[in-house]
Amino acid sequence: MKPELPLTKLSIVVLISGNGSNLQAILDAIAAGLPAQIKAVISDQADAYGLQRALKANIPTEIIKREDAVDNAAYNQTLLAAINKYHPELVVLSGFMRIIGSDIIKHYRGRIINIHPSLLPEYKGLHTYARALAAQEKQHGTTVHFVTDELDAGPIIAQATLDILPDDTAASLKQRTQALEHQLYPQVIRGIALGEIRLTDRGVYISGEFK
Ligand code: GRF
Repeated sequence: MKPELPLTKLSIVVLISGNGSNLQAILDAIAAGLPAQIKAVISDQADAYGLQRALKANIPTEIIKREDAVDNAAYNQTLLAAINKYHPELVVLSGFMRIIGSDIIKHYRGRIINIHPSLLPEYKGLHTYARALAAQEKQHGTTVHFVTDELDAGPIIAQATLDILPDDTAASLKQRTQALEHQLYPQVIRGIALGEIRLTDRGVYISGEFK
């Protein structure tokens, strides 16, 4: 039997604001062998449940509240400094409900990703489930993309799609979409960790192809 090559682990900082179910999916994937390590979880909300998940997994946490900064620019400077402390190779936005400052985006260009609960470019912004239902869409889904200065508009890495059922509500659609997210986000992180996915001047490179 060929000996397994030791894999270097992709170092990650995860930003959250709430439940952290995607954070949990990443933690579970790491426990199951995803070659990554979460250096820290940073939240802008002191009561984000995701902080409990991080503590349980022995991962350092930081709470950086907008109220403690004089303005958005100061907030983003503090946030950037907090992220930089951990020298992450990848910054993972996982339900972080603040707009990321351009300094952070510039610093981490090609190394910061987000997951958004719609099939982008459709339904940027909030309330994606209710809006998709109101528009009587047949399908919905989720998108992982590199983060750029334009909200929910960075280069798309991957999407997962589901059929909307006749009796779907925003809650049921959210539940099924998040189940897809919990598969998709760790898959993308794995691709980045293995060097199979990256942002290039020609667009998103995925396993030998440009999207
Ligand atoms: C996810 O559905 C993600 O698409 C959106 O925010 C939600 C966060 O959920 N950006 P959780 O905190 O990971 O449970």
